[in-house]
Amino acid sequence: MKLDLPRYTERFGAISLHGVQRVYELDSAFNEGRPASEAIRSVGNAEISEIERKMAIVIPIKGERLKLLEGVLSGIPHDCLTIIVSNSPRQPVDRFKLEKEALDQFNRFVGKNTLILHQKDPGLSDALKEVGYTSIFGPDDIVRNGKAEGMVIGMLLAKMAGKEYVGFIDADNYIPGSVNEYVKIFASGIAMSNTPYTMVRISWIYKPKWSESGQTHEMRKWGRVSEITNQYLNDLVSYYTGFETEVMRTGNSGEHCLSMKLAELLTYSSGFSVEPYEVVNILEEFGGILPTENQDAMDKGIEIMQVETRNPHFHEEKGDDHLNEMVNGSLGCIYHSKICPPRLRDKISEWLHGREIIQEGHEPDLLKNISSFKNIDMHQFAKILHDRAISFVHSG
Ligand code: GDP
Ligand code: CO
Repeated sequence: MKLDLPRYTERFGAISLHGVQRVYELDSAFNEGRPASEAIRSVGNAEISEIERKMAIVIPIKGERLKLLEGVLSGIPHDCLTIIVSNSPRQPVDRFKLEKEALDQFNRFVGKNTLILHQKDPGLSDALKEVGYTSIFGPDDIVRNGKAEGMVIGMLLAKMAGKEYVGFIDADNYIPGSVNEYVKIFASGIAMSNTPYTMVRISWIYKPKWSESGQTHEMRKWGRVSEITNQYLNDLVSYYTGFETEVMRTGNSGEHCLSMKLAELLTYSSGFSVEPYEVVNILEEFGGILPTENQDAMDKGIEIMQVETRNPHFHEEKGDDHLNEMVNGSLGCIYHSKICPPRLRDKISEWLHGREIIQEGHEPDLLKNISSFKNIDMHQFAKILHDRAISFVHSG
């Protein structure tokens, strides 16, 4: 893959937050050499393959159409470990069983290394309880509903499998070729990074919407929610640097990848606020504003890259309630951050009241946090999971 080296960077404590990088060539063959311009890096196929072997791709899924899941599976490079974490309903129709069968059938043809697990499996909750990881539980001592919760379970499985990198791809994607591109971008970003503490976020070139007439697609650049999330994340960065910025463009990107060394240090916010809060939490932990226990990461630095795809992003449209929930969660996690200045808090509150997303006199949702998983006894976790989680299947 040929892509931009970061052209501009906001530095914030130990963090380098790079501006959006473009892809010039999806496949630059085995050519590791210097491309035509100093500003472009060519990441050869051998280097990409080597990183893919160390990478797990987590697919969080809740009741998506099976055809879409099958497409997503087909787009993931063979050498990545694919991990499906499902919170699909089991009644009246056992959707999880159907997902398992679809995965099984896929595997019969491609013989790939895959894991699948249901988020609500009581055996999973037993394993988590045993190792003291209970911040992910609801009042019933079972893992809560939520996309973030599924992602964290996926990261635990990736760590258990000894993977060094973990990426996320939503299950509702219509274009298998774009799934493939996301993983190539993840691997290229990692190849370009200068620290073991890295995050690569996908910026979609277009997110098409049906036009009013329903005849054509409008190739829109920004979703409604992401525009507003990015604006407030940028405000947060600007407050501390003293300079206005537009650097953040991927606040709500579900498609992103982290090195396990960074992933295991972070705190995660519940549900759909997970993606913007990853950025907020990196600012909290490594921005030099609050004390941190993670001196090694402070010494080596944290890099956040944002890479713009060539493929447009086509996914399932989920309606206005979902958008309101996302915007409330996304802005709520900025609002409630320990590093959010009062001025920005007022602005967020005003915006949410103005659009009647929250009622007068109410604050944005304070979502639950999920603690970092760096101290979990993985050996113990794996043992109980294998013994008791009946939904857990490992193939390949
Ligand atoms: P959007 O694309 O950000 O608007 O959000 P989606 O509704 O498409 O959700 C993103 C992904 O998370 C999809 O693959 C969903 O099926 C999945 N998802 C949503 N809720 C849950 C959940 O509670 N658990 C798991 N494991 N996945 C979920
Ligand atoms: Co979606």
